[in-house]
Amino acid sequence: MTELDLCQVRIRSRRREVNGIVSLQLEPCEGEHLPAFSAGAHIDLLLPSGTIRQYSLCSDPEQHSSYRIAVLLDPQSRGGSREVHSLAVGQELSIGKPRNHFPLADNHDSAVLVAGGIGVTPMLAMAQTLHRQSVPFTFHYLTRSRSSTAFRKELRSSAFSDHVHLRHDDQQGVADSAGLAELIGEPREDRHLYVCGPQPLIGATVEAAQATRWSDEFIHFEHFKAPNDPVDGDPVTLRLERSGKTVEVPGDCTLAKALANEGINVPVACEQGICGTCVVSVLDGTPDHRDTFLREEERKEGKRMALCCSRSLTPSLTLDL
Ligand code: FES
Repeated sequence: MTELDLCQVRIRSRRREVNGIVSLQLEPCEGEHLPAFSAGAHIDLLLPSGTIRQYSLCSDPEQHSSYRIAVLLDPQSRGGSREVHSLAVGQELSIGKPRNHFPLADNHDSAVLVAGGIGVTPMLAMAQTLHRQSVPFTFHYLTRSRSSTAFRKELRSSAFSDHVHLRHDDQQGVADSAGLAELIGEPREDRHLYVCGPQPLIGATVEAAQATRWSDEFIHFEHFKAPNDPVDGDPVTLRLERSGKTVEVPGDCTLAKALANEGINVPVACEQGICGTCVVSVLDGTPDHRDTFLREEERKEGKRMALCCSRSLTPSLTLDL
């Protein structure tokens, strides 16, 4: 279990947005208050089973009386989304305080938002914030079809509806690189691009942006799943500097699980390399980073790694544990 700064909330309302997606409005329990958050932030949700999952906040950051999250029922679910879909109004839950790994930049002349499917959730808060700041932006929201487009009515009736462009897979040329290059347009001074959704959409959008000479510092993205299979690698020996222990990790086991099997519990939450809960310091050896949490400079330095999904490029790693 992770060391989270927790807050007790109650499910005020629950709504089926489209088939397979429910949204939950979370209000503070008596004596609690909800901390402020900025667009792009997520919370850890502690489910009754003990499972912890991260969900982006998709309510207006200026609205402080409740948080809203929306969750897609994943057919490959390891239990998290299925459990969220079974929660009822009135049920109480613990949540972690909002953290933001996908913030808006400080200064914009303009912005382009590209959301794929359930990747729309942080973009709803971003669009609210950009609109309030009077930043010109376009918001492209790509889904399979009109009927699978969550928040369609809300976006159509929003104060920023003129900025919103809905595109569906059943229209031609939406998600190919030429289509994406046209959607995002040319780079401009202080124009930022934000992308959130499934890995193939992020990859194609970033590629299209780079091909049209967008600079990397103006491209921001957030994955909804780690891109690599976390349990696919060579065996590795972990040397634990502080305890003096050595743990052998087989190729089909994550580093975090191998440590837990030896009674060494490293906090984990998402188990997908997204949240950063399981990151530890590396004292020797070269990590094979498979997370999406660490920044590029940190990955190059190799001084920290996510134990839930990353592996090793060297036969052993020495960790600060
Ligand atoms: S548990 Fe979230 S990054 Fe490892």
